[in-house]
Amino acid sequence: MSTIIVAGATNQIGHFLLPRLQNYNIVAISRQSRPNSDKITWLQTDLATEILPIKTSSQLFYSAPLPLLPLLLARLPQTTLLTRVITFSSTSRFTKEDSTDAKEQAIANQLIQAEIALIKECQQRNIVWTILRPTLVYGCGLDKNVTFIANFIHRFGFFPIVGQGTGLRQPVHADDLAQACVQAALSPNTINKAYNLTGGQTLSYHNMVMAIFKSLGKKPQIISVPLPLFTTMMRGITWLPKYAHLSTAMATRINQDLCFDCTEAKHDFNYQPRKFTDLGLCF
Ligand SMILES: NC(=O)c1ccc[n+]([C@@H]2O[C@H](COP(=O)([O-])OP(=O)(O)OC[C@H]3O[C@@H](n4cnc5c(N)ncnc54)[C@H](OP(=O)(O)O)[C@@H]3O)[C@@H](O)[C@H]2O)c1
Repeated sequence: MSTIIVAGATNQIGHFLLPRLQNYNIVAISRQSRPNSDKITWLQTDLATEILPIKTSSQLFYSAPLPLLPLLLARLPQTTLLTRVITFSSTSRFTKEDSTDAKEQAIANQLIQAEIALIKECQQRNIVWTILRPTLVYGCGLDKNVTFIANFIHRFGFFPIVGQGTGLRQPVHADDLAQACVQAALSPNTINKAYNLTGGQTLSYHNMVMAIFKSLGKKPQIISVPLPLFTTMMRGITWLPKYAHLSTAMATRINQDLCFDCTEAKHDFNYQPRKFTDLGLCF
């Protein structure tokens, strides 16, 4: 039985991925110490600095921050027993590349450079790679998008959006990504390829917020705010750590379509994401 090393085992994708790997030897990575179970050996390690101890033929399922991965691979010997890497990147590498926000542009550039460096390191070590790029991820209350909206609604009873919120979104459930990871690893079609992974439904930002109100059992109260006022509100709250991830560029995008095509993933490894409005929202 081959070993699967799971990096990012404690995030929302890891949460759904670990139970799907019951037939493998699992080595799960975290910077925190965690107790082992029958099925999972936890390895307390910092991916930014340490060398992965790989003693048997292994595959790496990686959903920790992508920029750490090329250097992690570069620290492995040329003749490593690591045979396969399935890693998550993000469609942000496309949508934030031309952002007006310098921080967002830097994130997109980091992802682009990390993807290029990852492929180079894999080629040098004969490791087969697959890159999965999800759109907006949600699913178990650990994300900063859907859960942020839900928590805001829960607290204030309404949700503000810029203009009409017409921009299209394709939220993708973390469990569908976990399944995609396993299916991609099993399919020979995915060797040395990258895929954009969307959710199973395309809906406007406004309708996504409506669906979140519905799942919370609350009457929708969506307030349309003009961009200048929204920007001023943002500046007023982003100094709070809880809201530090918000940016005015994000507000502008509420009316922009962020859509991708996952036909290739459907064809190559039978990717079948659920609809956002199906059951599966939990906060
Ligand atoms: N969130 C989204 O909407 C979204 C959208 C598109 C794509 N993605 C992609 O999906 C993946 C998961 O994203 P996420 O936001 O759920 O998780 P994340 O915040 O990117 O990753 C957190 C995970 O990485 C681990 N980690 C971070 N630094 C580490 C280090 N130095 N050493 C060891 N482990 C480290 C953490 O483990 P410990 O804290 O336990 O150490 C945790 O399991 C990422 O590749 C992301 O780019 C996310």
